[in-house]
Amino acid sequence: MKKSISYLHRIAGVFAFLIILSFFSSTLITELMGDQAMILTVKTVISYGVWILIPLMMITGISGIKMAPKANAGPIGNKKKRMPFIALNGLLILLPCAIYLQHLASSGSFDTTFYTVQAAELIAGFINLVLMSLNIRDGIRVVRAKK
Ligand code: HEM
Repeated sequence: MKKSISYLHRIAGVFAFLIILSFFSSTLITELMGDQAMILTVKTVISYGVWILIPLMMITGISGIKMAPKANAGPIGNKKKRMPFIALNGLLILLPCAIYLQHLASSGSFDTTFYTVQAAELIAGFINLVLMSLNIRDGIRVVRAKK
């Protein structure tokens, strides 16, 4: 039982990280080199993809807390402290940005508003990538320390 929660946690956490990384890099590539149709495609895929990302993040957080309900210090404590920032950043910034950018792109509004919101999304996305990679690093430390 404990083992399966641990596997679930690892797979959901790493997949969530890779999905955000792919959203981030495909956004950068299409906006630097693509045309408006390509940008719209990427923004549309992302606006659907977030609905896969949210359950993966929930599974990661819930399974993490289940494995270590009492830990407050050390690498697990640090992971726990980062989790609310990751979740709030995702739900309050990344999700609304993704939906609004898709809406703007679908109406052809590639104006100042689009690029301002896009810049905010890239910054928030980068912050979540950093926080999540720290959580992966600390997860690896926890697993190594047990061996
Ligand atoms: C976005 C958030 C998170 C990501 C991406 C993540 C990722 C990972 C990964 C990849 C591992 C496995 C490392 C390995 O196999 O070498 C791991 C282990 C672990 N994580 Fe997380 N984690 C996250 C959040 C959390 C939270 C909130 C907690 C709860 C306090 C937590 C607790 C643990 C524990 C206890 C382990 C060790 C599992 C074991 O002993 O098998 N994680 N994490």
